[in-house]
Amino acid sequence: MKNINRRQFIKRSGAFVAAASLPISLVEIAFGKNHPQNFTFGFISDSHITHIKGKEFVRNWDQGLKRAVAEANMMDPRPDFIIYGGDLAQLGKPEEIDHALDMLSGLRYPVKYVMGEHDYYLDLGRHWQKRLGPDRYSFDHKGVHFIVLNSILTHDKWIHRNWKDGMARMKQMARLDNPDGSPFLVGEAQRKWMQNDLAKVSHDTPVVVLSHSPLQKIYKGWNFWTDDAEQVHSLLKPYKKATVLYGHVHQIQYNQIDNIRFHSVMATAWPWPYPATYAQGVSHLPKLTVPMNRADPFFERDATGWQFINLHSGDVDLNYVLWENNTNRIVRFDPQKNHPVDTRFQDPDKRIPPQTHY
Ligand SMILES: [Fe+2]
Ligand SMILES: [Fe+2]
Repeated sequence: MKNINRRQFIKRSGAFVAAASLPISLVEIAFGKNHPQNFTFGFISDSHITHIKGKEFVRNWDQGLKRAVAEANMMDPRPDFIIYGGDLAQLGKPEEIDHALDMLSGLRYPVKYVMGEHDYYLDLGRHWQKRLGPDRYSFDHKGVHFIVLNSILTHDKWIHRNWKDGMARMKQMARLDNPDGSPFLVGEAQRKWMQNDLAKVSHDTPVVVLSHSPLQKIYKGWNFWTDDAEQVHSLLKPYKKATVLYGHVHQIQYNQIDNIRFHSVMATAWPWPYPATYAQGVSHLPKLTVPMNRADPFFERDATGWQFINLHSGDVDLNYVLWENNTNRIVRFDPQKNHPVDTRFQDPDKRIPPQTHY
């Protein structure tokens, strides 16, 4: 097998890490040491390509995606494919989706796409689907069953409200702490489809669900929330190895609910919450409504980076490569505890006390 060599991977991309700053991830699925079916894939997410006018786009977000493409092309070992986790666009405009896909066309690997809410709510995913095909599908790769969901749907009543136009709806969905917003849903039709899809998959097969929203209930005000999460969990309950990888939250999160492991990936655009220096680009950022702790508010690329994911025996180890002066983090599956742990915070001597200010 091509045993993943993290040091080698990082060394290869080191020139980029030193030179600039942005995020992708590499996932390894391993069936045991030296197993011939082990493989890796990359993960890029949340580029939020933003059209200004004509051929002008917000440069910082363009640069993030370009860098992720360049780093992914330098991955060693070569990933079998790349997952793009959603939010190609900021306001779902065809110009934004097309420009993002132009940049992503530089990848030397096949790419599988996940729908984000910023790609969807302008035209209900029409342009995205025209370019990329169905927004829910499944595939098998070397013994692992992957399910791609459109997890950013919401109630039909809200979607078909008396909006002035699609852009008005898109902007409402993009707002934080919006009393006129609506929580994400996988929805009944898609859950039924998922149930049928899983009917063919043995309970010993590792299952990886690729979703834009977290498929958990984390924070409703910012739609870090999927309203029918429990119903999706129940479909995954019989599986010995079930993992959900998601974008959307632009920050490191990991969790385990029953048998299901959850890992977020970071954005190539901005981290949530973003540092004060980002205020320079305020017209291109959602209004920050909830102050949250940050590791360090003085680094503008704090909490951006890319991920290197080792999915061994169906369990995920996620290596976050954080740019600038951030310390890299590893969230690793702990077989003793039977859940993922952030290795940096397991040693009591190295434990960082909770921050009391931001
Ligand atoms: Fe996003
Ligand atoms: Fe999103």
